[in-house]
Amino acid sequence: SLLTGREEEGPEFGKPDFVLLDQVTMEDFMDNLKLRFEKGRIYTYIGEVVVSVNPYRKLPLYGPEMIAKYQGRELYERPPHLYAVADAAHKAMKRRAKDTCIVISGESGAGKTEASKHIMQYIAAITNPSQRAEVERVKDVLLKSTCVLEAFGNAHTNRNHNSSRFGKYMDINFDFKGDPTGGHIHSYLLEKSRVLKQHSGERNFHSFYQLLRGAKDGQLQDLNLQRDPALYTFTQQGAGLSVNSDEANYQAVIQAMKVIGFSSDEMDCVHRILAAILHLGNIQFVETESGLEVAEERLVDHVARLTATPRDLVMRSLLSRTVASGGRELIEKDHSAPEARYARDACAKAIYERLFGWIVGRINEVMEARGRDPRRDGKDTVIGVLDIYGFEIFPDNSFEQFCINYCNEKLQQLFIQLILKQEQEEYQREGITWQNIEYFNNSAIVELVERPHRGVLAILDEACASVGTVTDRLFLQSLDTHHRHHPHYTSRQLCPTDKTMEFGRDFRIKHYAGDVTSAVEGILGKGVCSGTYSTDLTLRSMWPDGQQDITEVTKRPLTAGTLFKNSMVALVENLAAKEPYYVRCIKPNEEKSPGHLDEERCRHQVAYLGLLENVRVRRAGFASRQPYPRFLLRYKMTCEYTWPNHLLGSDKSAVGALLEQHGLKDDVAFGHNKLFIRSPRTLVTLEQSRARLIPIIVLLLQKAWRGTLARRRCRRLKAIYTIMGCFRRHKVRTHLTELQNRFQAARHPPLYGRDMIWPTPPAVLQPFQDTCQGLFRRWRARQLVKNIPPSDMAQIKAKVAAMGALQGLRQDWGCGRAWSRDYLSSTIDNPTAAAPFAQQLKNLKEKDGFRNVLFSSHVRKVNRFNKSRDRALLLTDKHLYKLEPNKQYRVMRAVPLSQVTGLSVTSGQDQLVVLHAKGQDDLVVCLHRTQPKMDNRIGELVGMLAGHFQGVGQDLEVRVSDCIQLNQRGRRRHVSVESKPDQPTPDFRHSRDGFVLLWPSP
Ligand SMILES: Nc1ncnc2c1ncn2[C@@H]1O[C@H](COP(=O)(O)OP(=O)(O)OP(=O)(O)O)[C@@H](O)[C@H]1O
Ligand SMILES: [Mg+2]
Repeated sequence: SLLTGREEEGPEFGKPDFVLLDQVTMEDFMDNLKLRFEKGRIYTYIGEVVVSVNPYRKLPLYGPEMIAKYQGRELYERPPHLYAVADAAHKAMKRRAKDTCIVISGESGAGKTEASKHIMQYIAAITNPSQRAEVERVKDVLLKSTCVLEAFGNAHTNRNHNSSRFGKYMDINFDFKGDPTGGHIHSYLLEKSRVLKQHSGERNFHSFYQLLRGAKDGQLQDLNLQRDPALYTFTQQGAGLSVNSDEANYQAVIQAMKVIGFSSDEMDCVHRILAAILHLGNIQFVETESGLEVAEERLVDHVARLTATPRDLVMRSLLSRTVASGGRELIEKDHSAPEARYARDACAKAIYERLFGWIVGRINEVMEARGRDPRRDGKDTVIGVLDIYGFEIFPDNSFEQFCINYCNEKLQQLFIQLILKQEQEEYQREGITWQNIEYFNNSAIVELVERPHRGVLAILDEACASVGTVTDRLFLQSLDTHHRHHPHYTSRQLCPTDKTMEFGRDFRIKHYAGDVTSAVEGILGKGVCSGTYSTDLTLRSMWPDGQQDITEVTKRPLTAGTLFKNSMVALVENLAAKEPYYVRCIKPNEEKSPGHLDEERCRHQVAYLGLLENVRVRRAGFASRQPYPRFLLRYKMTCEYTWPNHLLGSDKSAVGALLEQHGLKDDVAFGHNKLFIRSPRTLVTLEQSRARLIPIIVLLLQKAWRGTLARRRCRRLKAIYTIMGCFRRHKVRTHLTELQNRFQAARHPPLYGRDMIWPTPPAVLQPFQDTCQGLFRRWRARQLVKNIPPSDMAQIKAKVAAMGALQGLRQDWGCGRAWSRDYLSSTIDNPTAAAPFAQQLKNLKEKDGFRNVLFSSHVRKVNRFNKSRDRALLLTDKHLYKLEPNKQYRVMRAVPLSQVTGLSVTSGQDQLVVLHAKGQDDLVVCLHRTQPKMDNRIGELVGMLAGHFQGVGQDLEVRVSDCIQLNQRGRRRHVSVESKPDQPTPDFRHSRDGFVLLWPSP
């Protein structure tokens, strides 16, 4: 169940939330507080406010394991803890992008600073899961800054061994993921009077003791210091109190400063300033005849050296002052001894204050959220943590105490405003039935201090403005007259019987937490001191206002009181704009003793912190309120009536329907404009069901958006395709038109468009173009062939066959000649023996029955015995004949064409041919005795034979080679050609591996 967390704590630990008390009385409240405290339960809730009691001992409540238990949990799921509040603040910020703040209040020693450290540690631990370097850096600086600020701003006091002597408000900036990206520290009014003087049992700021006890011998020597706080006026008082180990802390601070990014020069400068202040404190003055003098001038030398300031300037500012007289004239006026002491102290205080301010400034520079652009990164959200000095009362209270107490008054008022007053006013405004709860309103006290013209601060301003003329007594009188009837103001003058105040010195303000008596002399005070003359850059940067004209100093500068008031007003405004979380710290006893709870003291604190009223308002009140429309916007997805939009009369009734469905109607009240939710659990139930639905809604949105994107893309693509289509059509059309134009004249002889250039087609038309070109070539061939006379057809066919068979390997193959084939029958070629050849042809025709003569020619032949003879070659469509020309062309050899397998020729111009036949010796011949001489007839022979073989479907192997291989009676031989100019007729000659044809070259 949702209650498990709280049930981890059994009833023996009392009520984890004061709201659960049976009766809201001081007795019950105290009983519960005490019971829990004794059982080590130091934290208890009032709603979302944590009440914390300082245990003064180590409790096993902190560390990574505990942090894991609280991370991402709701407030009531686990026992009350600071971690739960830190988580709530962080979650509220993340969920609603709201700035939040955690205000920690309580007396000095109540545990505020400890609480703030736990909160910071928790925030650091749960953020930056992705380990981004920049975020780690910011976290490091955030955590380490505490250590440094405590060294310079905390001191051992009677109330607290580590008391914060300044107010601290830290803003942590977060990005939209909830990771810290930067931070800023505001410090408020350092109690600088502590530099000079401490109450008995108290110490100066830790930093001095840390330096004196922790620094190395060499470093101390450089600073002209000795390792003994008792030797220095400013640290003498607390020298005996070494409660915490200053040596170790010194190292820790150095380490922390390094991590933060202080350079070694800067740290050096810090130490020199601390040393200079210590030396300054030891300076004494003696009055001599020649005027005022410094007792130990050596000290002035040290100060001058350590601050890098001219020695005579230091001397002069101690012994005299420059004043403006009348117009703009400046006069140097010598100090009296008390004036010089006052100047010395003022100087020490001012330097320390500047040093502290500078350190805070440096830390801020390092922590500043860098390189962030709200338009890109989203708006930063902020968690503020306020740890301000607690209310305190001393026997004699200085100006700082006055301010500290005013500050607490102011914060209490904010608490009242936010938790008690506004809350109740809102219920009334919204028409919620409400029993008014009485509470003490401290606005009158705040008024008393800060009211314009009449307030204590205003009168103080007045007094400071008229330097010299207004004495302490006059100031007190002015206060008395203005506030004579004020219920929270009194003085001895107004109440003469009260011996606790002195006449003409003290006045008293009745604060909400107690009466505080102040002496006026402690409150009025002035002093100027400047580091602008220093030649050290770090030191100079502590006085950023620069060298002020002394005449301007007299022009009514804002007093410290007014400055403080302004900073308080700004702080309260800042806090009021954020969603506040409160930690109310209670100090259980004065002795810092563990386990003891002084009931009287605690009751007092519970009373003035207004905790009972807080419980009452809380019990009657509501944990959360939201305007109806905003509520709907956040939770409407959890109910079918309201999702995506409701149809009911008003948002109010829609909210009613929603809560009805969840069964949560009993835990809420309906205001005019807002819904009031009583317990946080209801809110969490709603949050959880919302969280369950968010992924589904995200999916829905993604779906719709992805659909839109896809549709948009699709439309674009369609458009692109349309455009592409149009463009392609345009290209095709242009191309076709161009083709048409170019080939207009192609039909005309004799070229039939031979030289026409085809335009480059678009890619789509490439196959079309290829086909077209094929068609065109066939058409053109047809046109050409059509005009050839039928008598030439045989010749043409032979030429085509020759071209195919030679494959371009023989250049000169007599293509340009008319081929007449049967040269032996021609009287031109064969004038003497044409007749006998014709007779023989007739005989063969009768005998072998051939139809056509394919080729005939005289040849020179060589045989395997290397004998060359003149012969004749006759090729018919049936046989290859070798004839004897000298014996009427008697047949010497007849090979049926079916046996012929191929022929070989050379690539040259010679007329060598080797005929290959199955199972026969290769026939090696050279055509000769042609008319004209050496006519090129090889191509003709090849063409005729190839054409015939094609016709009958027989393979003919035509080889072109300049070294022809022969096969004669199984022997492998070669024949090649040699050109010989003086050779009368071609003839063969024996060579090493065959024959050479000697060819008469032209
Ligand atoms: N939760 C805690 N557990 C253990 N000890 C604690 C705890 N809170 C406070 N203390 C003890 O109480 C001391 C005083 O606490 P802390 O410095 O936080 O007081 P403070 O409220 O900041 O006082 P001041 O107003 O003087 O700065 C601490 O030094 C520590 O010893
Ligand atoms: Mg503190």
